[in-house]
Parts: sequence; C-alpha cells; structure tokens
Amino acid sequence: MPMKHSTYSVIIVGSGIAGLYAAIKLSETMNLPDGILLLTKSQLAECNSRYAQGGIVGVLPENKPDSISLHVADTIKAGCGLCDFNVVKFISENSCHAIKDLMKYGVNFDRNEQNQLNFTLEGAHSVRRILHVGGDATGYGIEKALVEKVKNDPVISSNITIYEQTLAIDLLVDSKNKCRGIISFNDLTQEYETIYAPVTILATGGTGQVYKYTTNPSVTTGDGLALGLRANAKIKDMEFIQFHPTALSIENDDSRFLISESVRGEGARLVNQNGDYFMSEHPQKDLAPRDVVAREIFAQLSKANKVYLDATFIDIEKFKTRFPNIYNKCLENNIDVTKDFIPVSPAAHYCMGGIKTEINGKTSIDNLYAIGEVACTSLHGANRLASNSLLECVVCAYELVNTLVKQQLLPSQIIDESIMTTIKKYSNEENEQAEINNVSELMDKLKTVMWDKVGIIRTESSLLEAMSEINKIASEFGAVDKCSNIEEYELRNLIYVSKCIINSALERKESIGAHFRADSVKIQVENELHTEDKIHESTVTA
Ligand code: FAD
Ligand code: SIN
Repeated sequence: MPMKHSTYSVIIVGSGIAGLYAAIKLSETMNLPDGILLLTKSQLAECNSRYAQGGIVGVLPENKPDSISLHVADTIKAGCGLCDFNVVKFISENSCHAIKDLMKYGVNFDRNEQNQLNFTLEGAHSVRRILHVGGDATGYGIEKALVEKVKNDPVISSNITIYEQTLAIDLLVDSKNKCRGIISFNDLTQEYETIYAPVTILATGGTGQVYKYTTNPSVTTGDGLALGLRANAKIKDMEFIQFHPTALSIENDDSRFLISESVRGEGARLVNQNGDYFMSEHPQKDLAPRDVVAREIFAQLSKANKVYLDATFIDIEKFKTRFPNIYNKCLENNIDVTKDFIPVSPAAHYCMGGIKTEINGKTSIDNLYAIGEVACTSLHGANRLASNSLLECVVCAYELVNTLVKQQLLPSQIIDESIMTTIKKYSNEENEQAEINNVSELMDKLKTVMWDKVGIIRTESSLLEAMSEINKIASEFGAVDKCSNIEEYELRNLIYVSKCIINSALERKESIGAHFRADSVKIQVENELHTEDKIHESTVTA
C-alpha cells in the first residue's frame, strides 16, 4: 500500500513550551498557505514542560536587586565557563519581553498581596528572580495557557493542524543536506506518513528516560536527538547531564517526583539520618550549584547514609500555598512535612547538550531547526542554572519565528535519491522486523547500565563497560530501520542517545560541571572545546 503523504508550510515536532510557543507565534505573524502541523507523540499537554515546578527566570526592571549582568554572571558561573557569553546575554536581555508575552497569552504568575510579582530563589542564583505559577505548578500553568491558545483561539488555531499520538521517526534530508520534512508513525492506526515542508522544527525535549531514575515523564526518550544523529546533524556537549539533587525517594518505587529546589530556596535544609547538615561548609550551602549538591548527596548515599530535606521549620500555611503539589505528594506517601523529613536522592533531570544550534534554532542541516531542551545553544555550558530552560524555550522560539518571517517558505516536495531511500525503509513491508518480545526488558537493562556506569560519577572503565553493554543490547534488539510499535522506536532512540552520551563522556577526560570523571586529575575551569563532531561519528557508526 503506498504511504500517505501531505504538505505543510511548517512542521513542529513536540508540544512542550518550545513547540507550542513557536506554533502560536508563527500562526500570529506569518501567512502560511499550507499551514502549520503540530505533531506530538502523546497528548498535546504531555511533556517535560508540564511538570516544571520552580519557575522561569525573569530579569525584570521592577526587581531592583537584579540586573542582566548579575544573571549573566550567575549563568556562566553555574555553567563553569562553558556557556556562550553572547547567547547568555541575549537570552537574559530578552527575558523581560518573554515574561510579558506569556502574560499576554494568559499565564498568571503568582503575586503578593500588593499585586507585585513574587520572585523566588533557587540554587546558584545570587538574587530572587524566579517567577512561578500556582506555587509549584509553573510548567502546568504555562502549558495550559499555551494549549488553550493553540486549540481554541479562533485566529491562532485556524492555521494549526494537530496530530496527537504521532511519532516523528525519521527526517527527510536530501543529498544537498536540506531537510524536506519527516516520516511519522501514528501509534493508534499504525500508519506511516510522509510529511513534506520547507521548514521542520524539532521541539522534542530531553533525554531523561535514558536513566533508571529520572524526574522526566515517559515521553522523554531523546527522540529528537536520535533523529538528528540519524540525519548527521551536529551534536554538542552530550556528556553534560544534569542530575537534580532532590527527587522524592520512596522504597520500592523507582519513580522520582521532583522536590523543587525552591523548597531549599525557601529555607529547607539537607541532612542525613544522623541530622548532620552536610552542606553547611559550602559557601552557598544548600543552594550550591546542582552538580555540587548532587555529588554531595551521592557521597552520603554511597556511605550507606540516607538523605532528607528538613522543611519542618517552614511555616505550614506558607508551604501549602507555595508548594501545594509537593505537599500533597508527600501526604500521599505518609510524609507530614511539618514533622517528617522528606527522603530524597538525585535523579536525571536535564540534558545540557543536544543538537548544535544558533540562538534561532538553526542547525547544521538546512531548513531544520531545533529549539528547547533538544537543542544546544550553549546557554547552559556544563551545568544549567535553575529555571533558565523554560526561558530559553520561549526566547529561542521567538527568535526562530523572527528568522522565518524574513524568508519565503515555498512548497517542498523535492524527492531525490536520498529521500527516496528513507521513504522506502518505511513503505516496504519486507523491511519490517518481527515484533520483539523483550523490548521493556532491554529498556530496563539500558537504563540500569546508564545509571550505574554513566551517572553522577564516571570513569573510563565504567564508560567502556557501559558501551559494551549497550552494544549487546543493540545487537539483541537488532532493528535499525522499520520497527513494529512506538516502544521499539523509543528503544531504538534510547540506544542512539546512550551511545552518544557515552562517547561524549569518554572524549572529555577532565571533570567539569555535571560531568564528573573520578579518574581525572584535572578539573577544567576555563572555556575550552565543546565535544562535537568526533562523538557524532563514533555514535552513528558504533
Ligand atoms: P518538552 O516540554 O519536553 O516537550 C517535548 C515534546 O515533544 C512533548 O510534547 C513530547 O511528547 C514531544 N515529542 C518527543 N519526541 C517526539 C517524537 N518523536 N515525535 C513527536 N513528538 C515528540 N525548567 C525550568 O526552567 N524551570 C523549572 O522549574 C523546571 N522544572 C522542571 C521540573 C521537572 C519535573 C522536569 C522534568 C523538568 C523541569 N525543568 C524546568 C526543565 C524544563 O521543564 C524543560 O527543559 C523544558 O520544559 C523543555 O521544554 P521543551 O518544549 O523543549 O520540551
Ligand atoms: C526545580 O524546581 O527544582 C526545577 C527547576 C529547574 O529544573 O529549572
């Protein structure tokens, strides 16, 4: 049966804050004869963005103690000097506009009794500058407002076609390195579709599911990164995975609900079972950069200690208003935050690396853009400053639309040899591999290997062992092209992403930021090279 095909002016893959915001802006500002396709692998609102708790950075003139230069300095210090100064400055300077624009779209940031915006504090920020919604429901608040616009605003929604439960599985890149669209797979109908467009935007989020313990939801399987790798896009800094220090850790439960850093920002302290306040010696105490706190907790856990957040001295009425979801989640687990300590441990949280892009999302493949967590603009360097990622999603999506406005988006149905080869992989029934029975077992194995050997602390031998294990998983899995279902495609992507992280981590022999090599003697402090092309080559050919 011939594969279904369609044409749009712009394809956006992913409906987190980056994808939704780009769709809204494009629909508002451009005349797009073939419309926008917004395609997402689950329900529209399911993504990392939805679970963001702490908030979004806003460097606003009314917040007198703050300034662009202070935010830039904090970002670069947390990123251990590996950030791109111009990118940091640009994103900081545009934060005020981004916040005002979100408000215009119906995001109600929390305010005090005088109706002034409430600013909170998180690790490595030198002043209170983080805005939040519904206390600890910032992502939910923003996502909800943007989904409402995309679905129900009469003008905006009229230009947008939405595909839910649909996975982008390959990019259509021609022999001149131009992206002409994607191949998609509908999880409900099992149908493949060739979708052409002069512009394709990846907004597919991060890679958290590559690890056994993560704060990220199940959709976060690094798909965009794998699409980029398969199409030879340049990839950068994949050794830098941020482990959030404080995820709720309940015995016999592998899920890791986040306990926001802003709980520490409001005064909670980290202690072990003996009551030792082990962050007390650090100049920034509990609010030291995330990589530092995560390693301290890891060291405690490695000594068979248990680690807790002591929030008992935060006024309970304040706790309930500021952190309603955290309060309820703790109660569900029989933890009364007024008298019980909250058991916590680190979990994979954010990917600083990704598809190498400019600030407007431009990648190394023509007509292909990447924004949000899937992209690496070098805002975050070796360790992301808390609450900078939602800001990056909005500012980069805005810049992307500013770039596209200046272009003529002509219909694109150019099919050359290279594109035909990609299409054939999915249209040809002979290519289909027999359904694999042990996909979830292989996934569990992969996640455990990555957690144990490519986690908070790495060595060359742990990384080599991990590569060998992942190679075994890959050969047991077998499939490279056409899979039978969404889980198989996700496993295919997780294998690509794992190898890419391992190769990057092997390449960087010194410790810096979130990449800690226990076998390194040198701690890198200065702005040196980012890991790029070598990693890509070895990942794709491995
Ligand atoms: P996402 O929001 O993850 O969206 C990705 C989208 O792509 C999803 O819709 C997904 O279904 C879709 N998708 C993925 N693959 C495919 C595919 N193959 N085909 C089709 N669709 C696909 N950052 C902050 O700045 N402040 C915070 O307070 C904060 N708190 C956080 C709390 C938690 C628990 C987590 C997990 C993250 C937090 N972060 C926070 C990080 C931040 O939420 C993310 O970096 C950001 O939301 C990423 O947005 P995004 O639009 O790039 O991706
Ligand atoms: C948190 O609330 O601790 C998460 C904030 C972030 O990841 O930026």
